[in-house]
Amino acid sequence: MNILVIGSGGREHALCWAIRKSALCSRLYCAPGNGGIADVAECVALPPADFDAIVAFVREKDIGFVVVGPEDPLVNGLVDRLDAEGIASFGPSAKAAQLEGSKGFTKDLCADWNIPTAAYGRFSDAAAARAFIAEKGAPIVVKADGLAAGKGVIIAMTAGEANAAIDAILGGRFGAAGAEVVIEEFLEGEEASFFALCDGTHVLPLATAQDHKRVFDNDEGPNTGGMGAYSPAPVMTPGLSVRVMREIIEPTVKAMREKGMPFKGVLYAGLMITAEGPKLIEYNARFGDPECQVLMMRLDCDVLPLLMACHDGTLDKASLRWKEEVALTVVMAAQGYPGDYRKNTEIRSLAEAGTEEGVEIFHAGTKAEDGRILSTGGRVLNVTATGRTTAEAQARAYRAVDRVDWPEGFCRRDIGYRAIEREEQNA
Ligand code: AMP
Ligand code: GLY
Repeated sequence: MNILVIGSGGREHALCWAIRKSALCSRLYCAPGNGGIADVAECVALPPADFDAIVAFVREKDIGFVVVGPEDPLVNGLVDRLDAEGIASFGPSAKAAQLEGSKGFTKDLCADWNIPTAAYGRFSDAAAARAFIAEKGAPIVVKADGLAAGKGVIIAMTAGEANAAIDAILGGRFGAAGAEVVIEEFLEGEEASFFALCDGTHVLPLATAQDHKRVFDNDEGPNTGGMGAYSPAPVMTPGLSVRVMREIIEPTVKAMREKGMPFKGVLYAGLMITAEGPKLIEYNARFGDPECQVLMMRLDCDVLPLLMACHDGTLDKASLRWKEEVALTVVMAAQGYPGDYRKNTEIRSLAEAGTEEGVEIFHAGTKAEDGRILSTGGRVLNVTATGRTTAEAQARAYRAVDRVDWPEGFCRRDIGYRAIEREEQNA
């Protein structure tokens, strides 16, 4: 069967890398892809927002299954369009993707179904929002309702900061995504991510992971799309995973089915492990980036039947196997990210770096030009390694990082530190 993957990041490189290994996969295409994806798939210059062009390409190349990576085409209805055309795909409908596309939608769903999450209010009126903040006090969290590329969340340590955030969001800083704000209780604890495949009815828990959102070591500096990740997350004990499934994931899938918008695809729960137990911070309706990279490295079975079972409604018959290993990924970003950064700088020695034991280098923002690899984005490479322990995976990943010749890039040097501390305590 011919397969088309939509997207151009490290997540899509990892998905293509895993799908390429499937016995079911004949030709593999990626739209638009990147300089690394071109090694495992045929990259085609189709913008993910051009649904007509995607449908025409699917017909022309006799594609049997489409895997949608990023949130924007999901929230904008690519899967609905493919369904209407009779084309099978992986990912939720636009209505189901509201779990990611509208924070207010998800908070109301949690309230209606008694799913543990931070207490909240939803506002489109600044005066009412200010009154809520005056009543609750700081610290408090202010969020744009819609998709804001990970930048729409402000952790306000004072009421003044919270009010400024309301003015910025309702004043239009995030466009339509900021027509409404969600104001939340500040949760304390350790964060972890939980991934589950869903076919609208059945749920197959995948794995846990932890990422590093801040740009600098010791979790300092501004938030980013993620500077590194590892899986599994030791903070998520088997007992906590059972609770997350029972208290958060399963009620969500049931609620979405009963609301007439069954969720199909991968449900990515961002969690806070509080003193009272796991609470939902947010949902994403897609694989995490760079979390997907570590999940694909750990997976020890064919990924394609799993993705297809989400579409077909046969996840109850699917099975899953993981390597007995940890996977860890270090993001190499362009200097200046998440602020301004240079593009089109050359990256050398990638082939040599990729020969380190247990290492795969996924490209997040590159292009291939005249036999050279050039940076095209803020997050550029995901140097990913497996190991028997997080410490081993980390050492392997940094050995490869150190062989990459890219003076214009940088990375955090402490990815995985929480897990390594736990390993040392348990040793
Ligand atoms: P989100 O985009 O909703 O995942 O929020 C981005 C980040 O903000 C999360 O990963 C948390 O670190 C933080 N955050 C969001 N909501 C809360 C909350 N209610 N309490 C504490 N931290 C939060
Ligand atoms: N790494 C965070 C995300 O994919 O949203």
